[in-house]
Amino acid sequence: MQLRPLSDHVGTEVTGIAMTDLDDAAFEQLRQLVYDRGMVALRDQTLTPEQHIAFANRWGGIDINNYFPLNGQHPEIAEVRKEADQRVNIGGGWHTDHSYDQIPAMGSILVARELPSSGGDTLFSSMGAAYDALSEGLKATLERLNAVHSADHIYSREGAYAQTDQASVLRGHELKTLAVHPVIIRHPVTGRKLLYVNGAFTLHFEGWTREESQPLLQYLYSLGTREEFQCRLEWRPGTVAIWDNRATWHLAQNDYHGERRVMHRITLTGEPIGR
Ligand code: SIN
Repeated sequence: MQLRPLSDHVGTEVTGIAMTDLDDAAFEQLRQLVYDRGMVALRDQTLTPEQHIAFANRWGGIDINNYFPLNGQHPEIAEVRKEADQRVNIGGGWHTDHSYDQIPAMGSILVARELPSSGGDTLFSSMGAAYDALSEGLKATLERLNAVHSADHIYSREGAYAQTDQASVLRGHELKTLAVHPVIIRHPVTGRKLLYVNGAFTLHFEGWTREESQPLLQYLYSLGTREEFQCRLEWRPGTVAIWDNRATWHLAQNDYHGERRVMHRITLTGEPIGR
């Protein structure tokens, strides 16, 4: 297994292994790498949908996505798809998946199925680095706060996608979601402290109005997207990314209008998160 860091704080590229052929020691090494680096990009994989599902089950289980179109043959796989005639992509703003669930998904395994000739990169940002950059004073304040998360303003009939050309393919408009999480969490495996709010799904601090919450949330969002905390994943045919939702935010760049991009995503079951 050859490793190449994609930036100081997040992301490692892995070459020289086949995901379909890992013994238990190599599998656990890969799992630890995802926890430590937030995102791992495996190059040169040939993964059928069945092998994608088998790998996710070996990791620990699958959360079926309630909103994205599901792959016809394999409902465990959600399709992150933008057609050549669509303008809006899925995941085009900084977010972490499923923070609107009380037990958020651990992460995702995203397989590149059809890529544009250029563009369509995914950016990742380290929430450990964002936490470390806070002053001691703000850390102490945030340690005492919880935040309320939901997906309703994104996926409901009046939500952010409703007036876009993704509206007809997305599902789950009628679902109601609400979760409360500490603003600073401890990674359930590594124990690292992490900033756990995000611009897509966090509504407000618990016990604060939205108006009161916005200035501080906006500060945290600008901190979390500092360029030095990020890495860029340039997809190639055969690339598979595995990321940890607790430790990272991500953003899918929408810079390939007129071309198709199709990704297969399996969301991995998580565990309770806390301080
Ligand atoms: C996502 O937000 O899960 C999509 C990421 C991507 O398409 O690169």
